[in-house]
Amino acid sequence: MLKPFARFTMVTLLSMIFISAASFAQEEDTTPTLRELAEQHGFYIGAAAWTNHLAVPEHAETLAREFNMLTPEHEAKHCMVERQPGQYDFRASDRLVAFAEEHGMSVHGHTLVWHSCMPSWIETGEFTRDEAIAMMRDFIMTMVGRYKGRIPIWDVVNEAVADGGAELRDTPWRALIGDDYIELAFRFAHEADPDALLFYNDYGTEPMNAKSDAVYELVSDLLARGVPIHGVGLQAHFDVGTINYNSVAENIQRLSDLGLQVQITELDIKYRDAQPSPVLLAQQARDYRRVAEVCLENPACTALIVWGVSDQFSWLRGEDLGFFYNPAVAPLLFDDDYAPKQPYFEVLDAVALSLGLPSVLSEQEAEIEEETTVVELPEPVKSDPAQLSPDSAAGLAYYAPFPVAITLDGDDADWVNIPRVTVDSGPQMPEDNDTSFEFAAAADETYLYLFADVTDSVIVSGSYDPADGWYREDSVEFYINATGDLARIGYDTGIAQIGILAANIANTGDAILGGSNSAASQAQVVAIETETGYRIEAAVPLVTEAWSITPEHLGVIGFQAHLNGSSAEDRDTKLIWSLADTEDQSWTNPSVFGRLIFWDVSE
Ligand code: XIL
Repeated sequence: MLKPFARFTMVTLLSMIFISAASFAQEEDTTPTLRELAEQHGFYIGAAAWTNHLAVPEHAETLAREFNMLTPEHEAKHCMVERQPGQYDFRASDRLVAFAEEHGMSVHGHTLVWHSCMPSWIETGEFTRDEAIAMMRDFIMTMVGRYKGRIPIWDVVNEAVADGGAELRDTPWRALIGDDYIELAFRFAHEADPDALLFYNDYGTEPMNAKSDAVYELVSDLLARGVPIHGVGLQAHFDVGTINYNSVAENIQRLSDLGLQVQITELDIKYRDAQPSPVLLAQQARDYRRVAEVCLENPACTALIVWGVSDQFSWLRGEDLGFFYNPAVAPLLFDDDYAPKQPYFEVLDAVALSLGLPSVLSEQEAEIEEETTVVELPEPVKSDPAQLSPDSAAGLAYYAPFPVAITLDGDDADWVNIPRVTVDSGPQMPEDNDTSFEFAAAADETYLYLFADVTDSVIVSGSYDPADGWYREDSVEFYINATGDLARIGYDTGIAQIGILAANIANTGDAILGGSNSAASQAQVVAIETETGYRIEAAVPLVTEAWSITPEHLGVIGFQAHLNGSSAEDRDTKLIWSLADTEDQSWTNPSVFGRLIFWDVSE
């Protein structure tokens, strides 16, 4: 049996492991399941489930075979359990807990206090603070009390910190009770079951950032005041290729240093493409492995829970999701037919290796497709001697002269004799496309300068949030990979998608930027309307916290230029410079960028 929520190592257990390792290396049908390996590690591997999933035989079978922890995906939340005041319906949560018990699985209770699933009679009613406290206490005492000794861990408060981390989220309980609703919830849960481990759970708080700082402050404060809290859940609803693992590891470590446990509570890894490329799926598999490794590496991280078993039931396929909807997304470990996918084998292998076992990947499974294109560049030539640097190798390499003095003023006079490249094709273009752009780049000692002159008869801007959906309106994207590794297929520090919105035309404040790590690029922008469209000039510091670029003759960084053209509400044009990017994959896969090669003009 597993000791609840503590890692353990026992000599006797280890010897058993080596015996079974030897046997599964020889005979294929003895390959251990994820659950078996996790248990040998004293680790929890969980999955979220609804009761109707249990009615699907393959689903129930896969859940019980591969996982040793179950999270009720939705049916144990307040809005589901107490639809009318004081009238509790435990049928679904009872069924889920019974299933877990029948199969020797633990349960991660989810969730007692969450703004998004409040009974409507509380949301719309008028109550005094004392009445509200009594109602919240009643729910928590009833729920936690009912499963005392059977649900050993609860997400007590879910998503209480506002995005950006500057303040607490406005929630119904906060409005009725005040900021101390959080600590009261933990105290009531502890009163109901003093042995249960009590967690704070949130999203977007996986790496080090302003929101995870706010969670860190919140839980530190609760601990300092003696409030019973034992862990932090990191939801981990990730996007392929965007996970900063080192930063997630750092965050887990700082929470662990407070004496708290951490669990990855709602892991799924999504993407927008209706038909994901093999490269994207390979990146997804790699992301799963790295997330598992980061958790397994820290003894404080006691569980890895995926948000569903089979892709077919992923919440991300739900039509009601306003913020993200891709009916074809496959973000989990098992496909629609319950076949394990490469992400499954990667997680399995990560657990095996962390136990000191040999790899469980067969050669075929281990072969993650990596597209490394060997680019042969032609000898650089200047077809026009007046130009400061050679012609670009179409779609492969751009020669950026340095040092060149540029002022961000919207005037292109200082760009004269810096080679311009015209981009007028790409993976998405309307029949009557009238949109194209020219770009150029140059550097001095401090900045990389980027220039785009866009021909576009209708400029659509200002209706999308730069944090979400900005690429649907007119915008130019420059991409930089300054890591020195141009074959990287995921975003990390040193790689940025700098989306520069046409909305900058009407903007005098900080640059309006979208895209992965765009803020870290610290780009300054001037944008103006022109007779034929708009122009963008940007200055990106050569030295930031994310990179240190030293222009040297023939020195190389990864580089890509892209245009989003919109003529009404949504984007209908995508123009792309780099030849390697045929499907608009640069936003997720930097290995398809081209190159920017510095050209010294000082002599
Ligand atoms: C989601 C479920 O997956 C959906 O099926 C349900 O309709 C809404 O809730 N963060 C959380 C989870 O903490 O409870 C949410 O689950 C997903 C986001």
